[in-house]
Amino acid sequence: MYQDAAIQASLKKVEAARKANIRLDPPRMSAEEKDALLKTYHPDYRESQFTTLLVGPNKGEKVPLELAELLEGKSRLEGVSVDLSKADYTTDVLIIGGGGAGASAAIEADNNGVSVMIVTKLRMGDANTMMAEGGIQAADKPGDSPAQHFLDAYGGGHFAAQKDLLYKLVNEAPDAIRWLSDLGVEFDKTTDGTMITTHGGGTSRKRMHAAKDYSGAEIMRTVRDEVLNRKIPVVDYTAAIELLLDEHGRCTGAVLQNMETGELLIARAKTVILATGGAGRLHYQGFPTSNHYGATADGLILAYRAGARLLYPDTLQYHPTGAAFPAQIYGALVTEKVRSVGAMLINAEGEAFMNPLETRDVSAASIIRECNARGKGVPTPTGFAVWLDTPMIELKNGEGTIEKRIPAMMRMFAKHGIDIRKEPILVYPTLHYQNGGVKITSDGQTDIENLFAAGEVVGGIHGRNRLMGNSLLDVIVFGRNAGRNASEKSKVVSIGTATLDHLSKFNDLLRKAGVHDDTLSPRLLPDYRRKG
Ligand code: FUM
Repeated sequence: MYQDAAIQASLKKVEAARKANIRLDPPRMSAEEKDALLKTYHPDYRESQFTTLLVGPNKGEKVPLELAELLEGKSRLEGVSVDLSKADYTTDVLIIGGGGAGASAAIEADNNGVSVMIVTKLRMGDANTMMAEGGIQAADKPGDSPAQHFLDAYGGGHFAAQKDLLYKLVNEAPDAIRWLSDLGVEFDKTTDGTMITTHGGGTSRKRMHAAKDYSGAEIMRTVRDEVLNRKIPVVDYTAAIELLLDEHGRCTGAVLQNMETGELLIARAKTVILATGGAGRLHYQGFPTSNHYGATADGLILAYRAGARLLYPDTLQYHPTGAAFPAQIYGALVTEKVRSVGAMLINAEGEAFMNPLETRDVSAASIIRECNARGKGVPTPTGFAVWLDTPMIELKNGEGTIEKRIPAMMRMFAKHGIDIRKEPILVYPTLHYQNGGVKITSDGQTDIENLFAAGEVVGGIHGRNRLMGNSLLDVIVFGRNAGRNASEKSKVVSIGTATLDHLSKFNDLLRKAGVHDDTLSPRLLPDYRRKG
């Protein structure tokens, strides 16, 4: 499969050095080394790729260019007259987003005896939850503790996580695993029923629970089935394009748009949960992405226009190992579990240039340094890459390990003629996760009364860098949390008069600030048409 002469030549070096490399345990970097590396090579530090917001709750703060364009863009409702007196849907709790957080929230709201519905712009389960591979963290084994989990995540996130949110995340993790297990998630277990757990980058204990390397798909399958079995209404192919606020500024529903017909619909609710997910399809700085097709930051736009503050919108996660070859799978996720079970990162010269289980931001920056500054990247049709030496896995753990532990990876590359048991693979960082997002309290409330948020749309739980397996955990813990609290709140609020006044106020601010951005937002879907 690797026919190119330069790739072949590099591959020979990797194979020749494998036996020596396998015995190495490259040292972890010091805090000072990490800081210097990140500042020089991590995309979050490329100042030219950011701008300052001119209006809204985060006015004066730095955000990526692509996000600023949408946050200060033009509402899809500008110049459109909408009949706000009608209600196409009425429910106690409206959930916007059909991924892991939305489904978990719906189940808990349903448990609380209120009416709940999900609207989703694609289909239920078209979400980053479904794409998650490596696992879900929980400190539920002897020798580990939520306190240890907290320390790992807090340090990994550069001490920027909101402590109350992180506290909740780690303390409710063991219960999240039990809940998923009871619902039917088939976690990997030994023959005596003990959960198999592994390390992830930056973890001090083996606490990654997994369903092989399709953990997210298994979790999404289970929570989606639960939603459907309970007959919770799900409206597919219907995007929320603006929130509705009442005369007191409280959230009271959303304007929806049918993705196929363009028809505008009104959903009225006592409380609303934003669970719209991430933003990889904005392709910040031109990076490929591991995200699902609909990850276009919609929730950030809706919440921001309505007056909700964002936390850390300037920090993105570039997963160190996106597939870099062949081009058909450029950017697809190569799970961190591949390194957890023994593969090492190797440069074009056959050198093991870093400890394979550094945190993600550090690993991504190291790979970028090898390729861009040290000239030790392997040339590929899409740029440069480094090797992830997968044959090491079976040399360390025995034959059959790859098929047993990472079958999805084996299949993804086999489709393109690469047998990862025998040949290493080429990887480069891919846009994976938005660390920042809508600010919430520990009961899931945003700055807007009656508007809750959960899942990747939220910022602050992980600080400025998230550890592997804490996202699947966060969608479950904070999805359930939002479902419980939004449903409880819905019992005591009455529906006010729906308005879109916040849009005209936001437009006034834009005008006064001299912003003339005609970009329609939220974007809803990426635009891959050839330009020009
Ligand atoms: O590498 C992975 O499997 C990704 C996991 C995550 O983002 O938590």
